[in-house]
Amino acid sequence: MHKIPKVMRAAAIDRFGGPEVLSIHSIPVPDLDAREVLIAMHTAGVGVWDAEMREGRYTSGSERFPLVLGTDGAGTIVASRINVFNVGDQVYSYSFDNPKGGFYAEYVAVASEKVAPIPERLDLEHAGAIPTTGLTALQGIDDVLHVTAGETLIIHGASGGVGSLAIQFAKWRGARVLATARGEDGLAFVRHLGADLAVEARGDDIAAAARFHAPGGIDAVLGLAGGDAFERCIDTLRPGGRVAYPNGVQPVPNERPGIEITPYDAIAGIDEFERLNRAVEAAELKVPIAAAYALDHAARAHERLAEGHVRGKLVLQVR
Ligand SMILES: NC(=O)c1ccc[n+]([C@@H]2O[C@H](COP(=O)([O-])OP(=O)(O)OC[C@H]3O[C@@H](n4cnc5c(N)ncnc54)[C@H](OP(=O)(O)O)[C@@H]3O)[C@@H](O)[C@H]2O)c1
Repeated sequence: MHKIPKVMRAAAIDRFGGPEVLSIHSIPVPDLDAREVLIAMHTAGVGVWDAEMREGRYTSGSERFPLVLGTDGAGTIVASRINVFNVGDQVYSYSFDNPKGGFYAEYVAVASEKVAPIPERLDLEHAGAIPTTGLTALQGIDDVLHVTAGETLIIHGASGGVGSLAIQFAKWRGARVLATARGEDGLAFVRHLGADLAVEARGDDIAAAARFHAPGGIDAVLGLAGGDAFERCIDTLRPGGRVAYPNGVQPVPNERPGIEITPYDAIAGIDEFERLNRAVEAAELKVPIAAAYALDHAARAHERLAEGHVRGKLVLQVR
């Protein structure tokens, strides 16, 4: 039987700023409201949006400090106000701006519909790395772009958290995947994850590769980084081609006649997690973890994030 303490350790900020504002705090374990579950965290994801929250980019002006960062992770249910979960269940969760505090903590209280059993093929560490990125990748491929077998898709910025999973979901759907990345290591990484073709994002390679491999034009682009190279990817589309990018990608792409460009947000819900779990199994998903840091070293994880060129995902080991 897990004894829940009154106080827990969490990586939190007292003010907005650089990685150095992130430190370990002792704060109360959150209470549970109706339909919430309490998760003893094992692994929390570290995403670029966490750094933006740390800097105050999403501030409403009404945050209460200390503010615990983290939008997702995995762990074990230790208390539940809803009978769909039992104490001891291994779960993962995505809750952006979670009202009861973020996931860089020993315990997190989350609305039960944003929580799901971890996929069978993953352990807690790997499940904890994918709630946000997995939902974002799958929904981009299936719900926004509606990628079908035989289509040719560019995944731009494919070596990061979302892209490394999107390559695999698109291959599972039967698409041909042209993945852009930077540097020899980035290119090797996306090839290893199943990309049919890896293209250096800098320079003229994208247009030439698209002309050679899809002379009639590319069918769709999933954009995970903004800027000139994203624009060059969109230029390779056939008339009627589609573009999707998750909100947060900056700068947003320019509109073009005859091209449908759709920004979107990942949605966490019961159906969405069921679909993600099925896709993880069916695609035999590999979850690349670039580096894992102890909760105490959350600031170091954010320094690593700021350096860029993370292949896959950074995580915090809470337990
Ligand atoms: N709205 C939502 O629901 C939602 C959810 C998830 C993510 N997002 C957003 O989606 C984006 C991707 O997320 P992520 O977790 O995959 O981020 P990430 O891990 O940082 O991946 C982005 C990738 O883009 C590459 N990149 C950066 N600048 C580039 C450039 N100029 N040319 C080519 N490649 C470039 C990076 O590789 P190198 O550093 O090696 O170049 C990196 O691999 C972020 O903007 C995030 O905020 C939004």
